[in-house]
Amino acid sequence: MEKVTELLCCYKNYNFIAGLTTAEFIDSLQSFEVRDSDIFLVTYPKSGTIWTQQIIISICELDGGLNEYPMNWKQMPWLEYSMPEEYINRPSPRLYTSHLTPALLPPGLKTKKAKVIYVMRNPKDNVVSYYHYSRACSHLETPTSIEAFLQQYLKGNVAGSSWFDHIRDWHSTKDQYNILFLSYEDMILDLKGAVKKVCSFLGKNLSEAAVEQVVEKATFKNMKKDPKANYEFVPKVRVQGNFMRKGQIGDWKNLLTAEQSQEVDRLLQEKLGELSLKFIWE
Ligand code: A3P
Repeated sequence: MEKVTELLCCYKNYNFIAGLTTAEFIDSLQSFEVRDSDIFLVTYPKSGTIWTQQIIISICELDGGLNEYPMNWKQMPWLEYSMPEEYINRPSPRLYTSHLTPALLPPGLKTKKAKVIYVMRNPKDNVVSYYHYSRACSHLETPTSIEAFLQQYLKGNVAGSSWFDHIRDWHSTKDQYNILFLSYEDMILDLKGAVKKVCSFLGKNLSEAAVEQVVEKATFKNMKKDPKANYEFVPKVRVQGNFMRKGQIGDWKNLLTAEQSQEVDRLLQEKLGELSLKFIWE
């Protein structure tokens, strides 16, 4: 892997957090054997990953047949971080999480019936969430200002690379996957509706009461106090902050200037205009 900074390295045009994986391991994903029953959650960082993990895990638990693990990150491990054999050899159904682009994921995802759930968040709230998280987390570079971080983000010089490329790569290859697209904003506005969409996509016929249970476990308030789901164990050394920060749409208005917001709009049109995606900003 090519070192970009002390904390960031690049492999195959994708920026990884240094020290968490290797080029060999990323290459090995090309021969990772996907099973028909696998479920993959894919997101760009800070798009609602741990929230959707909680939803998928709760649905599968209530449906029965899931080997349960004490923490969500073990139940639904990140595929790109060199995994212990147990994560790979465990019985079906296996649940995985990833921030990777299609080219880096196992090709078996296209040939098997495995399911992919992709969650997108509007880029203004995404960059603001990422900024706060970067200030809080010791394994990410501390940004000097929101302007400095925004410029890095817009260039894709952050872990996860470019938000724009991520969205484009997944949308433009969607026909090759068994994939459900969700948005963070739709989940905020109608959590129950989102839970039902996930149930239906996963072929899980939960009762109304079970759906309510999933919704309850996935509310911001309840997840924040759920040690299995809230990722409080992730090291924070610099400033106060965590995975469960505000959980809202429109927080970008508290941080981005009108010029910064317009710069995002301009790039959105330039880079993703032809996809005609709809964004909810507040
Ligand atoms: P904010 O920083 O805007 O609060 P990820 O899991 O991909 O790292 O995304 C983190 C973002 O998802 C954070 O956004 C976090 O607060 C939000 N989030 C996590 N759980 C949530 C929930 N149950 N409801 C709403 N937002 C949630």
